[in-house]
Amino acid sequence: MIIVDGPAELCGELTVQGAKNSTLPLLAAALLCKGQTVLHNCPDLSDVDTAVQILEHLGCRCKREGHDLIVDNAVTRCQIPEELMRGMRSSIVFLGAIIARCGEARLCSPGGCELGPRPIDLHLSSLRKLGVEIDESGGWLTCRTPEGIQGAYVSLSFPSVGATENLILAAVCGRGTTIIANAAREPEICDLCEYLNRCGGRVYGAGESCVIVDGVKELYGAEHRVMPDRIAAVTYMAAAAVTGGNITLRDVDNTHILPMLSPFEESGCEVRQLGGCLNIMAPRRLSAVKHIRTMPYPGFPTDAQPVVMSMAAVGRGTSVFVENIFESRYRHAEGLQRMGANIKVEGKVAVVEGVEGLTGAAVQAADLRGGAALVVAGLRAQGRTRVEGAEFIRRGYENLAGSLRDLGARVREE
Ligand code: UD1
Repeated sequence: MIIVDGPAELCGELTVQGAKNSTLPLLAAALLCKGQTVLHNCPDLSDVDTAVQILEHLGCRCKREGHDLIVDNAVTRCQIPEELMRGMRSSIVFLGAIIARCGEARLCSPGGCELGPRPIDLHLSSLRKLGVEIDESGGWLTCRTPEGIQGAYVSLSFPSVGATENLILAAVCGRGTTIIANAAREPEICDLCEYLNRCGGRVYGAGESCVIVDGVKELYGAEHRVMPDRIAAVTYMAAAAVTGGNITLRDVDNTHILPMLSPFEESGCEVRQLGGCLNIMAPRRLSAVKHIRTMPYPGFPTDAQPVVMSMAAVGRGTSVFVENIFESRYRHAEGLQRMGANIKVEGKVAVVEGVEGLTGAAVQAADLRGGAALVVAGLRAQGRTRVEGAEFIRRGYENLAGSLRDLGARVREE
């Protein structure tokens, strides 16, 4: 449980953690590299712990030294046990790397999750194009590549982040050239490809919608610094915004923040971006964030929608959200309503009439970013907010309570 005693006014400086969504595919990539991979700026999160357990189960030796994670590759197995797959839906990103490395893979299907159904059809159909035979039965995926991975032209019907990563990981040591059309363009894909290329890979066009992978024989482990977490950054920005605060974030890649700036500008915050730092100064009362439509990068990210909804909840006027990426991504709305927010949800649309103040309440985090949104709202609420389900929040935020305390809030984890 995270307990917030509000209201707070955030002030001070904070270094933003390394990106969770970059670390997970980078750890999968370590499976493809001979020798040692050293990841710097690796965040201390329960999802990263799960990924490390997967690597260890597969035979790798992993050692954490502060924010450095050292992986010695010694793969002996090609199966991920059910409890590790169920512990983290994104463990599907290990599939491409395991098949490429071992020629076979067996893992249980990740199934549905807290954001609604999370199909993997794009992952599977595109891996099939690379020559992977996949048998889906009894909730398990059994994959083989009798001829090895063969380069191919793959056009994704939706720019799925995970499917793009899986394809790149499968193809990077395959035979021939793979062309991925309508690839996801998220910065985390660029981070993955930068690492693979440093290890000897030949991946071109990351960050564009057409990625070309020229297969190479071998990759050699290298050192890499995980990119800063853009969603953690926007979470702290939202926390400063709702509290009328003034904070400076260090270790921010400002180009990654650009697609998320509009609600801060609309609501009256002043955002200054300088080098790797970002300063945000919020007015006493926010205006509405107006209109948010979640889209694949470089559109507004779905992961930032919940924390921006907490801003809209206390902004003067009406804000409208359209969630285009995941089906069940308004579960934080119920908690916000318990705190006094005025939100109407109808399918993928949410209409938020901003109220002047919120009141602390006992609320339940139903997923990672929704949980963070409730903590952010708690900072603005009068009285005590208890957010149950801190385990969701620990999946993606390194010491959220401690970081907010450093900025002057009264927040603790129990
Ligand atoms: C990644 C991020 C997650 C973020 C999401 C969208 C990681 C570890 N997670 O998740 O934080 O919210 O991108 O930016 O990086 N889809 C299919 N079939 C598939 C794959 C996806 O229909 O085979 C659909 C999904 O149901 C969803 C949409 O495509 O509606 C986007 O999913 P995707 O981009 O794959 O997200 P993830 O990689 O799971």
